[in-house]
This record gives sequence, C-alpha cells and structure tokens, in this order.
Amino acid sequence: MKLATKYLGLTLKNPLIVGASPFSDNLHVARQLQDAGAGALVMRSLFEEQIDFEQQALTHHIESPAESTAEATSFFPSYEEFELTPDHYLHQIEKLKQELTIPIIASLNGYRPGGWTDYARRFEAAGADAIELNLYQLVTDPEISGDEVEADMLETVRSVTALVKIPVAIKISAFHTSMAQFARSLEFAGAAGVVIFNRFYQPDLNIEDLEAQPQLKLSDSSELLMRLRWLAIISPHLHCSLGATGGVHTTEDLVKALLAGADGVQLVSVLLKQGPKAITNLLTGLETWMSEHGYESLNGLRGAMNLSRCPDPTAFERANYQKILQSWRI
Ligand SMILES: Cc1cc2nc3c(=O)[nH]c(=O)nc-3n(C[C@H](O)[C@H](O)[C@H](O)COP(=O)(O)O)c2cc1C
Repeated sequence: MKLATKYLGLTLKNPLIVGASPFSDNLHVARQLQDAGAGALVMRSLFEEQIDFEQQALTHHIESPAESTAEATSFFPSYEEFELTPDHYLHQIEKLKQELTIPIIASLNGYRPGGWTDYARRFEAAGADAIELNLYQLVTDPEISGDEVEADMLETVRSVTALVKIPVAIKISAFHTSMAQFARSLEFAGAAGVVIFNRFYQPDLNIEDLEAQPQLKLSDSSELLMRLRWLAIISPHLHCSLGATGGVHTTEDLVKALLAGADGVQLVSVLLKQGPKAITNLLTGLETWMSEHGYESLNGLRGAMNLSRCPDPTAFERANYQKILQSWRI
C-alpha cells in the first residue's frame, strides 16, 4: 500500500501530520510520534506579539518586554508565560531537526504585516523544512471591512513568502465571505498550501460572577464536517496543497478528509487524548479501508468526493439546504 504523499512540495511517508501544539516542545515525545508513524510535525506557534515584545525590549533596554505596554500587561500572557522565547524557538527547530528525520514545519502566528515576519527567514536558517503561517484574528472593530482584513492578510503572506525559499502554508479560519476566492488569493500570494481551519476557543459566560470564562475543549469528530464541506468546495480550484485540521479522530474521519481533497491531515486532540498510538491505529485503519475499497495509493482516493464534477456547487449547496429543512415533519 502506497501512503506516500506530497504536501507543500515535501514528500511525506504518509499524510498524517502532528498539528501545531505542545508536542514539539519535548524531543522524546516528538520522537515517539515519529516512531508511531507521523509523516511530519508542525511546531507550536511563535507569536507576532512575542517577537514585537522582544524587539521593543532590545530597543528600550527593559528587562521584561511585557512591561513595555499597558495593553500587553492587561491582555496578553506575560513574556515568561510563553513556553518558548523567540531564541529558544530557533534552537528548538535545530534540536528537532537533529533528533527527527520527518519534515519539521515551524509555525509563525500573526496577521499584520510588520517586522516580525523576518522570523520566517530565521526559521529557514535554523533548518525548518516549511513554515505554517497562522493568520488567527478575530476582527471586532466595526470600522474595518472584510476587504481590508483580507488585504492585510494577503500582504502578510506576500511578505513572508518573499523572504524564504522553503514552502509556506497558510492556516486560516472558516470565516471568510468568499472562501474559495480567498483561498485562491492566498495561492497567488505565494502560499504552497492552505490549512483549514483554525478553531476558535470560544469563551463561555459565567452567569454567577458575570465573567467570561476562557476554556480549551478538545475537538471531536463533529468538527470535521465544516472542514469536509470546504475541502470539497475549494480543492478543485487550488493547485497548492490543502491541509485539514480540526476533528480528525477516527479512520472514517481520515478517509473522509482525504476523499474531500486534503493532501495532509493534521492531528492534535486525538493525540492529546490517546497518545502516539492513535497515529499507528489510524494508519492501519487507512490501509485496511484502502485495500477493502480497491485503492493501492492515495492518488485515486484524494479529492474523489470533491465538487469538481458538480456543475453548480452554489445551487447544489442551496438545494441541499432546502431539502434538509423540508425533511422535518411534525
Ligand atoms: C493545547 C493546544 C495547543 C495548540 N497550539 C497551537 C499553536 O501554537 N499554533 C496553532 O496554529 N495551533 C495550535 N493549536 C491548534 C491545533 O493545531 C489544531 O488546529 C486544533 O487543535 C484542531 O485540531 P484537532 O481537532 O486535531 O485538535 C493548539 C491546540 C491545542 C489543543
């Protein structure tokens, strides 16, 4: 069974990728994930704010960059709370490259063009095989239009991709008005891949002390459905790679993500719940499914259920919406 695949132009032994998470912090654990069969590993993110803080510290000679702005002290984690400083991050890339043989994808997290994007160059110099640029942003300013937000994002992508020769994947949220068009714009801006989607860690409201309660709940398979829909819609229009992140827990989830058009399938929650053996189980399950369904490689399987053969996907989606509403009878 041939599970080898291309992702961001890199050859992976299989499409399973450890998604951005704390798994990259510990070399022993990262090694276990590789031994269990992971095809690549994405590191936790280095954030725009961390880099900006450090650059301010160098300029103003302050001890802790978090002391430098009122905004930073009130909302953001203090400088010390981040697991890796920018310098540690670069060393961690080097150590992971020494310890592992699978591709290492470093993650840069920010959305505004700025000096922080220069870290892409440093990631490359430290040995990263690729970069995942996470554009996570929740726009709350009513003065800013969607076009402006996306223009900033595209400029950020252009500035990062212009700085490096290694491939850059862009991790985005699900909330863009014209997703297929935006994904294509990312490709035109130099992206070697688009990773869908960021999860928003939605705070709950505590109605006793009237405070917002941040919470980190791990995903389940139900979160995959939105990714499947957009993979199926986008994949016929892109030449670059597509990564799926969010809600892949079972062999069925993995097969569905591939059928919908994913080239790489990222895992985090399932690994936090079950440990590295989840990768081995998913690979065995994929091989079994492929042999039962007559596939010898991923080539015929990938994208087989995307919407490339649908003459009018917008009408198809709207028709399905109407049918599903009519199906409920009292
Ligand atoms: C503890 C934890 C830490 C994470 N850290 C990052 C990060 O630093 N950068 C990033 O882009 N995504 C991060 N993520 C998001 C994951 O990469 C992934 O997109 C998300 O968990 C959905 O995948 P899943 O359903 O397999 O968990 C993190 C997720 C978790 C649970």
